[in-house]
Amino acid sequence: MDRMANTSDTSTTETATPATSASEETIRDTNRSTTPGSEGFKSFIGSGWAAREETLPPAREQAAFAAERRAKVSAAFTGQRLIVPAGDMKQRANDTDYPFRAHSAFAHLTGWGSDSEPGAVLVFEPTTGGHETTVYFRERAGRDSEEFYANAAIGEFWIGARPSLAHVAADLAIATRGLEEFDHVVDAVDTATLVLREADASVTERIDHARIRFAAEQALSTNASDAPFSLEIGGSHEPDAELARVLSELRLVKDEYELAEMRAAIDATQRGFTEVLEELPRITAEVRGERVIEGVFATRARLDGNDVGYGSIAAAGPHATVLHWTRNDGPVVPGDLVLLDAGVEMDSYYTADITRTFPVNGTFSAVQRQVYEAVLEAADAAFAVVKPGAVFREVHAAAMQVIARKTAEWGFLPVSAEESLEPDNQFHRRYMVHGTSHHLGLDVHDCAQARREMYMDGVLEPGMVFTIEPGLYFQPDDLTVPAEFRGIGVRIEDDIVVTSSGAENLSAGIPRTADEVEAWVRGAS
Ligand code: GLY
Ligand code: MN
Repeated sequence: MDRMANTSDTSTTETATPATSASEETIRDTNRSTTPGSEGFKSFIGSGWAAREETLPPAREQAAFAAERRAKVSAAFTGQRLIVPAGDMKQRANDTDYPFRAHSAFAHLTGWGSDSEPGAVLVFEPTTGGHETTVYFRERAGRDSEEFYANAAIGEFWIGARPSLAHVAADLAIATRGLEEFDHVVDAVDTATLVLREADASVTERIDHARIRFAAEQALSTNASDAPFSLEIGGSHEPDAELARVLSELRLVKDEYELAEMRAAIDATQRGFTEVLEELPRITAEVRGERVIEGVFATRARLDGNDVGYGSIAAAGPHATVLHWTRNDGPVVPGDLVLLDAGVEMDSYYTADITRTFPVNGTFSAVQRQVYEAVLEAADAAFAVVKPGAVFREVHAAAMQVIARKTAEWGFLPVSAEESLEPDNQFHRRYMVHGTSHHLGLDVHDCAQARREMYMDGVLEPGMVFTIEPGLYFQPDDLTVPAEFRGIGVRIEDDIVVTSSGAENLSAGIPRTADEVEAWVRGAS
């Protein structure tokens, strides 16, 4: 497929004449087929289309939840203009891009997920009563525009119809405006304007330039010698970082809509895991069987949701000792374990994050089972401490008690379990270098900009969702463990919600014990 329609070309022929100059532009043009540019063609392609009937949709379910979240942001930033971009397309190579995925803060505050428009921006404009919130986006072009048929990046002929301003306003229950009107927001930038810097580099740069212009105008009119804020283009900016922090912390406690989406993501993930097991004959027959696992799971993610929530880890045999093995190009051999760490992301962008480790032939060897049951014990110990009022890092500490005890019992540590658990020792961490838990939601590692006192040292509250994912990994060349342990990697990862009285393991329905896992593999393949 040639995506290189060229609106700037005014020739009426299919292909531009090769030029003698070898500038990058002409080289590119030489290989382009271009859209005819004659007035006759334009008028022909711009007419003869049936009128579009537009029925406005009712507000989507999450619209009311997004409005409540915006109200909290508004209350936290009285009198300040806030700019939260969705982000834009990101280049993969030459003229191809990665699939678009809006920034999670934008999705959280608008309810716009997989159908959101690249380049959109949410603006909180301060008013006397709080803020007026508006989503700016590039609405669809008329069929009489060249964009309609000749713009491969955004034209309807190329990427499908874009929604109208009225449609999105009804769907999200929020005011909408065309993206060209965002220029007025940039013109109004002052010291009380904050931008979520990481979401869209081009928007951030525009805001930084506007700040410099504003500061220069202020300096001229007041003879002030000090700039009122940082004037560095692309640099860090404390008040902006505060906006990122508040938006991240706002996501620590999930509302009812978010919990329902996460349950749906976990259900879809369970389906995907079972489908992987059903394909074990094909998986073991292929030289790159791990790729089949990745593909089978990805199919389920695309069928039930938007995509996978992160690169699936399909790690067979010794690859399971590589914590983020996403190359997934190895064979899957009977007798080995497979560690599958994968999650379906729904169209709302909420994702599951589940790991199961299973024996390819349906039976754990004695040593595989020994490791598996130690990890399960660590997971259960961590789950047991989860309740409102507990501190997040205590969950990890509970898992580490078990990991230290087991590895000491097996004779792998140079000291006792108690000594190993002392902060300056931690020798057991050789076999589990990662943490036990992270918050989960729109991002697989959700709320990453929350302050330490709200996250790692944070007190658990009902509605918080996080993973419990202890593991044990014995590298193939680790001489501190007996040969039969080498090359074994086991992780068990569940998604947990804090309830008013304790906790619920949202993924408890996915087989967890060694016996359940064996039965699951045998029953599916
Ligand atoms: N599921 C991958 C991770 O949590 O890092
Ligand atoms: Mn995880």
